[in-house]
Amino acid sequence: MLFSKRDHLVGLDIGSSFIKVAELKTSKKGNILKKFGVARVPSGAIAEGRVVDMEGVANTIRTLFKSQKIKEKNVAISTGGHSVVIKTINTAKVADKDLHSTIHSEAEQYIPYDIDDVNIDYQILGESDFSSDQMNVLLVAVKKDIVAEYIDLITLAGLTPKIIDVDTFALQNVYETMPGSGPEQVALLVDIGASKTSLNILKGNTSLMMRDNVSGTNQIVEELSIQLEISIEEAETMFRGDKVQKDSGTLKEIRESVANTWCAEICEVVYAFQSNTNNNKVEKIVLSGGGGFVEGFSDRIKSELDVEVASINPFEGMILDGKRFPASFISGVGLQAPIALGLALRRVDDK
Ligand SMILES: Nc1ncnc2c1ncn2[C@@H]1O[C@H](COP(=O)(O)OP(=O)(O)OP(=O)(O)O)[C@@H](O)[C@H]1O
Ligand SMILES: [Mg+2]
Repeated sequence: MLFSKRDHLVGLDIGSSFIKVAELKTSKKGNILKKFGVARVPSGAIAEGRVVDMEGVANTIRTLFKSQKIKEKNVAISTGGHSVVIKTINTAKVADKDLHSTIHSEAEQYIPYDIDDVNIDYQILGESDFSSDQMNVLLVAVKKDIVAEYIDLITLAGLTPKIIDVDTFALQNVYETMPGSGPEQVALLVDIGASKTSLNILKGNTSLMMRDNVSGTNQIVEELSIQLEISIEEAETMFRGDKVQKDSGTLKEIRESVANTWCAEICEVVYAFQSNTNNNKVEKIVLSGGGGFVEGFSDRIKSELDVEVASINPFEGMILDGKRFPASFISGVGLQAPIALGLALRRVDDK
């Protein structure tokens, strides 16, 4: 392809338990899935958002690229949870030239870190519902040392990081390409990973509320390991249902109790949102991440909030070769795939 502009990136979602990689090609007909793969992160190699074992994770990335035969070296990655603070703040409207300094000085009171230790970005969301002199601003602060750590990791893996995104935004990015994400519909995207959860309430393409917390499937695995006195690895295998279950009663109880906690956290966000906004009601909840595998969780939210709850299928609307990516494969990885796909949709020149 002599004249095509080579600005595409490989999306690389470095989760604390699974790394996901995706490569897309944009055509007139739509986005074509070229590559997709997942690889397990060595146990304990990423903890609390920090890369503890650089060589181990870099090696997993290298092996994944090799097994998927990915040649492209330019990647988009993302961070989230422990290293990112996302807040919607309310501030007085100011002239464009004063915006930067106003938001930076406002940010200090919302960010629990030293302002010199974070990179700050923001987006104006629009006028406040309550006063025409005020505006809503989406504030994003990312810890510099963690960004530096991920850049080192990617470089060690022999790749070039071109974009450092935020998990929640990458998820929103792919959601917007999916059919059925209506322009006026208020949807809540929930991603429950192994170590963290991100919540994002959208109206069309505008985010109205974001929240991150440290809930994740590790809660189930850790509790199982304690109660049955088995290793974390054994507990993980048991949870994923790969092996004959030793004591499925205990697993069931833990699963239910953790799912209840997640459900309560989600309800709290939904109720807070609905009581703070005029006539906005969450109409649909879209689940992603390994937490979506937890049996009974989705039904629990549905009955609690009386809304439509769906598991994400981020490949919907993409063009893919059914022989290389059979339906069984797609349904197996759908929950874990969206962030990598959202990153793969980014272009080199994107902000
Ligand atoms: N069938 C399954 N396949 C893969 N993971 C599963 C399955 N069932 C449950 N899980 C759980 O989902 C977790 C992986 O989810 P996910 O890929 O979203 O996490 P992650 O992105 O690595 O974590 P985080 O974003 O919190 O760092 C696993 O650690 C496991 O506990
Ligand atoms: Mg994740």
